[in-house]
Amino acid sequence: MNALRTILPVDFTVGVILVTGLMSIGGCDSTVKQFPSNRVHALVVETSRDVPTDAAMADVEQVVTAWFGTPEKPTWPSEWIELPAARQLVDLDRLQRASGRVYSDKQNRHFGLYTEHCVTCHGLAGGGDGPASLLQNPYPRDFRAGVFKWKSTDRSAKPTREDVSKLLVRGVPGTGMPSFLRVDSDDREALVDYVIYLAVRGEFERKLLDDAIDELGYEDTRPEDDASLTSLVGLSSRNDEAASVPVALTVAQDRLNQIVDAWVMAPEQVIPVPDETGFDALSVERGRDLFHAVEGGIVNCAGCHGPNGDATVATVDFDDWTKEFTTRLAISPEDKAAVKPFRSAGALRPRQIFPRKLSDGVYRGGGQGETLYRRVVAGIAGTPMPAAPVAESSSQDTKTLSPQQVWDIVHFVQTLGGVPVRGDALKSAVEDAESVEKGESR
Ligand code: HEC
Ligand code: HEC
Repeated sequence: MNALRTILPVDFTVGVILVTGLMSIGGCDSTVKQFPSNRVHALVVETSRDVPTDAAMADVEQVVTAWFGTPEKPTWPSEWIELPAARQLVDLDRLQRASGRVYSDKQNRHFGLYTEHCVTCHGLAGGGDGPASLLQNPYPRDFRAGVFKWKSTDRSAKPTREDVSKLLVRGVPGTGMPSFLRVDSDDREALVDYVIYLAVRGEFERKLLDDAIDELGYEDTRPEDDASLTSLVGLSSRNDEAASVPVALTVAQDRLNQIVDAWVMAPEQVIPVPDETGFDALSVERGRDLFHAVEGGIVNCAGCHGPNGDATVATVDFDDWTKEFTTRLAISPEDKAAVKPFRSAGALRPRQIFPRKLSDGVYRGGGQGETLYRRVVAGIAGTPMPAAPVAESSSQDTKTLSPQQVWDIVHFVQTLGGVPVRGDALKSAVEDAESVEKGESR
């Protein structure tokens, strides 16, 4: 046993032993409530690398708790973060206001906001697995993968703060995710901080486990000395003067900084939207052709969404959160026996993802032209919806779309959802075009 453990508070040690040793019983130390650990990811690592992860997971949890605190007392590991902007990515006061017990103080400031508004769906650690998650389709987001769908940024980028904040105002139409318009804007900002916190914490937990196995040599047992993650639990700051920095600290710190930096970078990764080109009948027609183009087509929209976005094409596909523990491990999501261990570890039952029926005109991520433009350019992260290849306007070729062509597709999609083409003359031109098309029985 590591010496550092002996200086930890007793109930923390008990918590760790309970969490790591008796997880399947679901027992939990009542004095210090811990975030539940990501056992699904641990099992994925165990299955894909064919190594036991118990020792690594126990130590990862110690580091994560030392750096991020508990649900009652979240902390932010500023001392290990290099960029000043990343140190201030979340505000500690707001974090502590968002978490824990629900109450209001004498100044009528609200506490426990995440507990009050979000935990039933998104779960204590943001695993998307709260008690109300089971009946939902789509499931609430598991923030721990650090992947978000409804954002203004590149597919692989984090959302901006503003993206998350606007999402809370809007909700996600057509899903269980409600609008929090009525929550005070100050409280909403605290919730944004808390979402970012859970996402950073959860992604760090996942990736540090990968690192422990792949880089630090955790297999059956804890590696020696400074490659052991427990060697950094008691440290309170990095002493660069010291002759040697523990290997484990370098690995964990690099990982943490990579994750927080990605959040800081998000505003620079907002997808630029060129000026809207004319929304007229001709544009809609060009968009219709691009949407349906198969032969030599660049983006087979109709192949997934069906002709005119009517969702009549049969598709069988899953989102990345499900693929992680199924198809990526060569397990069929339908194979109940093979999926069972992951279900026991906390995974929700695999559910298919379906391309949107665009003729309904309900957009989860927002239906404005600018938003849909970005949707086409970036696709939807974590889902099968691909990014369309877009060229700089000058260097367009047959394998890429020009910005105008993207706008054409957007205009077509918008008319499918019932947005009229601007100007009545133009509108009737489209209706004419449509009746011509029906007459041709295409
Ligand atoms: C009734 C269940 C429910 C509640 C309550 C709820 N959510 Fe959600 N949330 C969802 C669902 C379902 C989704 C997934 C929507 C999708 O995949 O399009 C989601 C998605 C999200 C996303 C991800 C958006 C993206 O871009 O990928 C965020 C962030 C989020 N919720 C934050 C919150 C916060 C903060 C609260 C509390 C203030 C909250 N949610 C309360 C069900 C809920
Ligand atoms: C490989 C299949 C696939 C292809 C190809 C595809 N999509 Fe999608 N699309 C999806 C899926 C799946 C969703 C639902 C994602 C979700 O809600 O999580 C979706 C959702 C959408 C949405 C809804 C966005 C919202 O806010 O609700 C739009 C709009 C859309 N697609 C447009 C297009 C267009 C335009 C193209 C062609 C450029 C296209 N899609 C190509 C699979 C596809």
